Amino acid sequence: GYDATPYLPSRGGLPALRRAAAGCHGCPLFLDATQTVFGTGPAGARLMLVGEQPGDQEDVKGEPFVGPAGQLLRRALEEAGLGDEKAYFTNVVKHFKFTPAPRGKRRIHKSPSLREMTACRPWLVEELKRVAPEVLVVLGGTAGKALLGSSFRVGERRGVLLPMPDPFAEQRRAAPGRLLATVHPSAVLRADDREAAFGGLVADLSVAARVLQ
Ligand code: URA
Ligand code: SF4
Repeated sequence: GYDATPYLPSRGGLPALRRAAAGCHGCPLFLDATQTVFGTGPAGARLMLVGEQPGDQEDVKGEPFVGPAGQLLRRALEEAGLGDEKAYFTNVVKHFKFTPAPRGKRRIHKSPSLREMTACRPWLVEELKRVAPEVLVVLGGTAGKALLGSSFRVGERRGVLLPMPDPFAEQRRAAPGRLLATVHPSAVLRADDREAAFGGLVADLSVAARVLQ
């Protein structure tokens, strides 16, 4: 079956993890994507944000949250008072999944399957162990399901501090950190009332800001 586990390094920090992930063939998504888009940010980040998978621009640049959704997310973080927080950004799935588009057109994002998310999850677990953030912000329902189980509904649980689920709590028994779910910035871009949706994202992120004060 699909699984990234055989590609995990036996030791090392985030740089070793990133180097190993560049060669991951744990599922077929590496075949059509440009490159692995691994997480970015300092190992000591108190705040970590996890999205679904890289988009078109992330795939080209090799960095998470650099496209339109990422720009909106960074604006929301600033409005929530987290503009100066050196956060760690990553995704549940590390390769861009898309429907090919005619030359010059933006490729259309396709949702990762449960098998692909499960295959890629070991990278996220290792990132979480190494960063061990005080707050993990989970962006959107897909990422929420990957971390909290298939019954997770972001609309029902957003904006409240939740306990860090195992195995993510493991490395921080003394102060295991908390999880906060909110909507995905792409959903804000697609919303009928964008201003209200943006305000909702900022309100949820403000809860994380209070913890990190
Ligand atoms: N959406 C995501 O979930 N992640 C990115 O890196 C960019 C867009
Ligand atoms: Fe490996 Fe994840 Fe890329 Fe699949 S999506 S090849 S599991 S890094």
